[in-house]
Amino acid sequence: MNNLRILILAAGKGTRMKSRKAKVLHSVSGRTLVEHVLRAVQPVSKDVLVVVGHQSDEVKASLKGVAFVDQKEQLGTGHALMCARDALRGFTGDLLVLPGDVPLIRTETIQEFLQFHQDGKFEASVLTADVVNPSGYGRIIRKAGRRYNTEISGIVEHRDATAKELKITEINTSIYVFNTPMLFEALSKVRNENAQKEYYLTDVIGILSTEGRRIGVWKSPDADEILGINTRQEIAYTDRAMRRRKCDALMSEGVTILDPASTFIDMDVQIGADTVIFPSVQIFGTSVIGEDVTIRSFSRISNTHIGARTTVQEGCIVDDSRIGEDVTMGPYSRLRPGVLLADKVKVGNFVEIKGSSLGVGSKAMHLAYIGDATIGTGVNIGAGVITVNYDGTRKYPTTIEDDAFIGSDSQLIAPVRVGKGGFVAAGSTITEDVPAEALSIGRGRQVNKENRAPHRKKKSP
Ligand code: UD1
Ligand code: CA
Repeated sequence: MNNLRILILAAGKGTRMKSRKAKVLHSVSGRTLVEHVLRAVQPVSKDVLVVVGHQSDEVKASLKGVAFVDQKEQLGTGHALMCARDALRGFTGDLLVLPGDVPLIRTETIQEFLQFHQDGKFEASVLTADVVNPSGYGRIIRKAGRRYNTEISGIVEHRDATAKELKITEINTSIYVFNTPMLFEALSKVRNENAQKEYYLTDVIGILSTEGRRIGVWKSPDADEILGINTRQEIAYTDRAMRRRKCDALMSEGVTILDPASTFIDMDVQIGADTVIFPSVQIFGTSVIGEDVTIRSFSRISNTHIGARTTVQEGCIVDDSRIGEDVTMGPYSRLRPGVLLADKVKVGNFVEIKGSSLGVGSKAMHLAYIGDATIGTGVNIGAGVITVNYDGTRKYPTTIEDDAFIGSDSQLIAPVRVGKGGFVAAGSTITEDVPAEALSIGRGRQVNKENRAPHRKKKSP
């Protein structure tokens, strides 16, 4: 659609959230409320203006590719539009207006609404919905005796409605299209004589109706989609709906999700076909999961790439890392940020890795800490091995070259290097570099004292 600009209202505080954070900055499924709205409208037009006020710096920082208008004082939705007058000066096309708190709105719905507006050659259109519980919403007042879509006489806010008007179940979604010059002319007539002493954008509809303008009313077929978030309860409700949507989309693309109700997958996550996600898995942020991957229950994966055919067993926590193909991990492995596991690596239970890389086929199967280490291919890290990377002030690197073997319960005091094919005997404390192919033993010698054990037993009570 040419000659269309979009304006998103995102300046309000959102008092009902009881939060220090501006309402539109609250997240569902890994995106802020206003980001969801922006993503839904961007395919319609790239020309988007966002009205910001409360925590404007944070809101501005969170949105890319849009222009901003400041509303210094939040005097109502009508006032927010008035603040955009200069930014829209000279523009004679249509303005699509949306609130920043309708995260479930879909692009297709917006397109249908715009099509309706165009086909009907309306000067303004309102998107409405029939809802079971209209409490808190503005109510649509229809003209008596009219049967067509142009039959609106105004919108009355919940707090200003009469008992009879409160019974109306058709509500204002706060999504509109206006002919822009006509909108600003009507806005100049809006007064703040109402329960909240605010300039209501909704009053514009009454004003245009009185002037006899052609106003379209389009009822959304899906009342859920237009839910405007005002409370934490609505955040939870929306999050569930959004997660279900994401799971459905992934299942349509060939991903097996055994229990969508307990699965949390953020909107931007990508997952390949034939991957199986067990119940109670969380995959967040910008994670990309390959094909044929298995992710078992109670694992939490954030901003991580996982290659094809890898298995993540129960209870793994993985942040900001890159995992190759045919890797097996867990149960109960923890990958902190900056881990690189090459193909065919095996990481077992209670292994913690941070800022390290493991080469192809290397293994750390039990109870190890690997921090700031560069580990080659075919390396075996025994049970209980620790890279001692921190002296209380600074962090130091450990290097373990290809095919080295680190015996169980050894400590590698960094900075230190184990050469190619080097062998560290179990229970060693390694403080100096181990040359390639060398066997290194760094532990106290064993002393056996004959017949001393019964003697000790007799003495103890
Ligand atoms: C608004 C509508 C109501 C509709 C409901 C749908 C008005 C007067 N009422 O009420 O008819 O049923 O949305 O969800 O328009 N905002 C600003 N500046 C302000 C005030 C608000 O930018 O000064 C922004 C908010 O950040 C929010 C949006 O406008 O994104 C809607 O504001 P909100 O306070 O949630 O309006 P409601 O009371 O829900
Ligand atoms: Ca609202």
